[in-house]
Amino acid sequence: MSNKFYITTPIYYVNDRPHIGHAYTSVATDFIARYMGLNGYDVRFQTGTDEHGLKIQKAAEANGIEPLQLCDKNSQIFRDLTKSLNLSNDDFIRTTEQRHISGASYLWKRLYERNQIYLGEYTGWYSINDETFYNEKDLLKQDDGSFKTLTGGPVEWITEESYFFKLSEWSDKLLNLYKNNPNFISPRSKRNEVIKFVESGLNDLSVSRTSFKWGIKTPNNSAHIMYVWLDALTCYTNGVDYLNDSKNDLREFWGNVVHIVGKDILRHHAVYWPAFLLAADLDLPTKIFAHGWWTNEGKKISKSLGNVIDPIEIINKYGLDQFRYFLLREVPFGNDGDFSKNTLINRINSDLVNDLGNLCQRSLTMIEKKLGSIVPKIINKGNKEKALDQSIDELLVKSNEIINEFKIHIYIKHVWDHIGKVNKYFNDHKPWELEKNDKDKFLNVLAITTEQIKNIAIFIYPIMPQKSEKILNTIGIKKSQISFKEINNINIEGNKLSAVNHLFNRIKL
Ligand code: MSP
Repeated sequence: MSNKFYITTPIYYVNDRPHIGHAYTSVATDFIARYMGLNGYDVRFQTGTDEHGLKIQKAAEANGIEPLQLCDKNSQIFRDLTKSLNLSNDDFIRTTEQRHISGASYLWKRLYERNQIYLGEYTGWYSINDETFYNEKDLLKQDDGSFKTLTGGPVEWITEESYFFKLSEWSDKLLNLYKNNPNFISPRSKRNEVIKFVESGLNDLSVSRTSFKWGIKTPNNSAHIMYVWLDALTCYTNGVDYLNDSKNDLREFWGNVVHIVGKDILRHHAVYWPAFLLAADLDLPTKIFAHGWWTNEGKKISKSLGNVIDPIEIINKYGLDQFRYFLLREVPFGNDGDFSKNTLINRINSDLVNDLGNLCQRSLTMIEKKLGSIVPKIINKGNKEKALDQSIDELLVKSNEIINEFKIHIYIKHVWDHIGKVNKYFNDHKPWELEKNDKDKFLNVLAITTEQIKNIAIFIYPIMPQKSEKILNTIGIKKSQISFKEINNINIEGNKLSAVNHLFNRIKL
């Protein structure tokens, strides 16, 4: 079996500045990418920007610039965000790049050749905000007779010549796909919603526009541009060169693909995308995971409320890994969550400063001060020490099951349970007393604790890569050495510690 693993974030619209929602999708995807890397997979991680469509054209007009100028400028902001979040992405794709345009056009041609696209006229509701066509039954009627989307966005009534994709023909095939691959859509509650939506009957989907110009021209008719979702979804295949007839090795990644998306765009990924691929006789992704939405101190996040959370501000104020930890630990992945400064500060002070930071600080400074910074040798392992080894072995097994189901918060909880055990081991043995009356035991306790700190550093790598590397660096291990398979073979005995510094600062409430 191939050990390739390809994971993607959605590509972000460039009409807006990055906010916590973008940061969340990206950090969660980065967690999985790094975890799978530690687990021995050959990982490819793609993110990028979605640059076509009416929304972008309007934003450019509002700024009095050409769409491409707006895209260049704002795409760079999202690219910079990948650095600010310390993402391990291998690729950053833009839908204005030629490789993307060629791929999207290739898919269109395949659909057209297979008689899956026909010319007609679209009359109905459209949301520029979501770039989505809506049936009236899926909208909310306002007191003044107008309609809004469920998230409160405006819709407009449009009538224009349009190509249609024969989505209605694919209902049964899609339902079979969901039935035969129960894990194709997760979490389960979201899967059920998609199944209900498909069971309620699918209309053919309008896949081209003629009333504006900012998009990819359809290959068979230059008066039409492709519907922005048909265009955008192909970014996933285009990043690995799958939508053409080449023999590039990258294409192998299309054999094992996970798309991480927010719940608002699950329908596009779990219905439209597989239908396009099935209709074009192409391979499907392996899994689509939909995460929940963040609110801010209990309120819906929106520009009009002025409560949009800028990830860079949080990072500058509290630290990147503290932010990553909070995002991943606070909310069960798949559920909605609430951002609150107090909860963030409490998490930093209790889980990071007290539990992890103190453990490292107290034990490693003891080695620094009393042992000339040299990590002592393990002399023996009694029941207490063996229990810690067993806890790590169990964690290795459990975490595979947990991450298979994308339960990132549970993984973190288990890692912190282990940190608790190591703290207890250290405290119960009181090495500061042993130093005077039982030197061998003193050395053994420090050696065992450092060995466990090494294990913890490896387990926290997907969550807090910088802090993980800082610990590894202090105890003399290179990042390239770490993997779950080798975790018990990484020797630290005799290593010289580099200067021990605080990992986290306590924050005043
Ligand atoms: N361009 C489309 C995706 C195309 S993928 C082929 C898009 N872009 S987006 O910029 O609007 O949103 C990107 C991601 O941010 C989505 O996964 C969305 O769910 C997520 N979030 C936007 N606001 C959010 C919150 N308040 N909370 C959590 N995530 C949310 O959609």
